Amino acid sequence: MANKSKFQAIRGTRDLLPPETALWNRVEETAHEVFGTFGFGEIRPPIFEPTELFARAVGGDSDIVSKEMYSFEDRDESSISLRPEATASVCRAYIEHGMAQLPQPVKLYYMGPMFRRERPQKGRYRQFYQIGAEVLGGSDAPGIDAEVIEMVMTFFDRVGLSDVELDINSIGHNAPDCRPAYVQKLKAALEQVKDKLGADSQRRIESNPLRVLDSKLEHEQAIIATLPRIADHLCAECTAHCAAVKRQLELRGVFFKENWRLVRGLDYYMRTTFEITAKGLGSQNAVCGGGRYDGLVELLGGPPTKGIGFAIGEDRLILSLQEIGKGAAPQGRDVYVAWMGERAYATAVRAAKDLRNAGFSVELPPTELKFGKALERADKLGSRYALILGDNEVAEGSWTLKTLADGTQQKLTETELLEFLRGRKNLSS
Ligand code: HAM
Repeated sequence: MANKSKFQAIRGTRDLLPPETALWNRVEETAHEVFGTFGFGEIRPPIFEPTELFARAVGGDSDIVSKEMYSFEDRDESSISLRPEATASVCRAYIEHGMAQLPQPVKLYYMGPMFRRERPQKGRYRQFYQIGAEVLGGSDAPGIDAEVIEMVMTFFDRVGLSDVELDINSIGHNAPDCRPAYVQKLKAALEQVKDKLGADSQRRIESNPLRVLDSKLEHEQAIIATLPRIADHLCAECTAHCAAVKRQLELRGVFFKENWRLVRGLDYYMRTTFEITAKGLGSQNAVCGGGRYDGLVELLGGPPTKGIGFAIGEDRLILSLQEIGKGAAPQGRDVYVAWMGERAYATAVRAAKDLRNAGFSVELPPTELKFGKALERADKLGSRYALILGDNEVAEGSWTLKTLADGTQQKLTETELLEFLRGRKNLSS
């Protein structure tokens, strides 16, 4: 017997359906608009890349690369991975297309699916969507950091998510008198309190001590509060850069909170790091993460290049908007064409075509329905008007338009109908 078991979307993936997809489109449209006003152009990199690209860029020891990538051997036996993020791809593309020859900096944005094999929960999926932007080349002027942050805050505001918190930090850079010296101090301090920490943090003392600061474990919080802070150990240049970024943010009227524990989970960051959180999302409340990554392009085989960027978690942004009542309403129709009779049908087809060409959404039932039944359907679909076309109406050239909200009817010629609807559209938009 044939196996008739039903298929389901794979765990951690989901179908995005109407009406929610209208909200996704609105969000993406807003990103195109806002990023365009800041001079960014769109890049669409592939969804899979050599595994080695992510290993080198994001870091072989990071959770993302060591545990969460979907990797497979291609037929030529090279290892390929579904992208867990897109910064590495954008840097690869910058090198591959010789973009260092273009006027600097090059400002690019992207949107699309990313893949990480995490434990699924609210706001955390295995296929999720990011909207991100990267500024590559040119200088590391603090004004660039501030403008990138200003852009993402402008986007959140425009899309209707104004109640967000921006946290910023500087994690210094990889020079002996800066982050490495701090990490040594941190490690020494962690060794002192090792037996009070959980297993994960204990392991991280060796593998990545900075990540201990990320811990959400309740009983570790008081201990972490006593650890040395990076701001007190940055080199003079990083201290000055960080102060200037803060001044530049103030200049732009961008509110922020300094958070010395913000270290981020990808290896490529240096100096400025930031995260944006939204209310009502529970533990997965980061809707955007980003930071500076000077040196990443060089690490991937390109020329020494400055870089900074961010990625917004679109799934979480949508959840947030829905939670504050800014979700999408089911899409109604402007006009439902209720027709009866052969001659009326020919006219109905033409009317539907003309109305759609004029930009109205029109539902045309494919088979004849009694007027009562047709009006019921029109109502269920949330139609604003029903255009009633029987053989009489067609013969007289005088059509009946019913306003479904109040049941009023009016007789109109074809030209009057279009004029009337155009007028109403302007009123309602
Ligand atoms: P990230 O912090 O790994 O950074 O991801 C950015 C955002 O993507 C997160 O704040 C979150 O909103 C969303 N996100 C991450 N994982 C998931 C998931 N499993 N389910 C749903 N949403 C998720 C990056 O990816 C960097 N490439 C950002 C960047 C760009 N830095 C510089 N340029």
